[in-house]
Amino acid sequence: MIKLKFRRPSPAARKAMCDVASNSKTYLYKYSLISKAEELVKKITGHKYARVVNSGDSAIMAVMNILEEPFLIPDEGGWKGFIEIAKILNKKILKVPTNLGIIDPSFFEEYLDKLNDKPSALFVTSFAGYTAEQPIKKLYKICDKHDILLVEDSSGSIGDPKRKLCNASHSHIIVASTGSPKIVNVGNGGFISTNDKKILKQYLIRMIRADPITCAGIIEELKRAPDVFDKVVNAVAYLKKNIDNVFHKNKRGVNIILPSDNPKKDRFKIKKHINIEKNIIVTCPRYERINKKAISIEIKNIEPKCLSKENLDKILDLLSKLQLSKE
Ligand SMILES: Cc1ncc(COP(=O)(O)O)c(C=O)c1O
Repeated sequence: MIKLKFRRPSPAARKAMCDVASNSKTYLYKYSLISKAEELVKKITGHKYARVVNSGDSAIMAVMNILEEPFLIPDEGGWKGFIEIAKILNKKILKVPTNLGIIDPSFFEEYLDKLNDKPSALFVTSFAGYTAEQPIKKLYKICDKHDILLVEDSSGSIGDPKRKLCNASHSHIIVASTGSPKIVNVGNGGFISTNDKKILKQYLIRMIRADPITCAGIIEELKRAPDVFDKVVNAVAYLKKNIDNVFHKNKRGVNIILPSDNPKKDRFKIKKHINIEKNIIVTCPRYERINKKAISIEIKNIEPKCLSKENLDKILDLLSKLQLSKE
């Protein structure tokens, strides 16, 4: 049995949130946390303006609300909220064909040239299906040329030390969830950052602002984001290197996705050998991972301290012994 721990907010974040919740702090102090969290978001993304909000989906809703339809999204490997929120706002979406979630920049350019509609924005997650980095910089250049905003959902990539993801230089707008379990793992909240003030000036933002307790957590967790990101991405790289049939073997990611003829059965088989408080196995096909029969092992949901070589080797050993149903 492999013993792992499910990721929780860091002890410092939990303490900071408890301190604010216990009411021992002044009103002024509590509200100063909102601007402090926003300053830190600006520092990490590089945008001029930021707002902390009560969830990742709220951030997406605020952005979709102010932009004209239609929106472009990947045909798989995006976030289901892109589809659901556009539906609520009654705005049209167009699905861009991908290679298992990845938008090929040269194909994208041709696709835009042939398109009859004039989209206002492309919504992508930094990692297609949390498993493979999008070519964000290249997509940004194409979007910029065509007067389309690139909106990057950085829930899985906050703190990328390589600065390829979650970086204002290659995204007009960055949105993220700081809910559970994300890289910035507060259990609640999210943010929007951009250089365009008008997006954050809309009245809607007042209704979805994050509370001071969430902000206290975000402040602590943001400080740890680069370290958490590195640990998760390195663990995933090690696992991918040692698994032949993993999807997107050579791309950075925060989970591993393996083909499976019988995802439910395989999830059950793996779960029997892993002792962890909550679920880390997701079955596919599903829009927010991969549109094929597969199982996703959510390495991002595991406490980074547990991602030792010893534990990763145990996972590799388990996967090779179990002989998952191969495609
Ligand atoms: C990539 C991504 N974006 C947005 C969200 C929505 O975030 P929230 O639950 O904070 O609304 C999620 C939630 O899992 C997500 O995985």
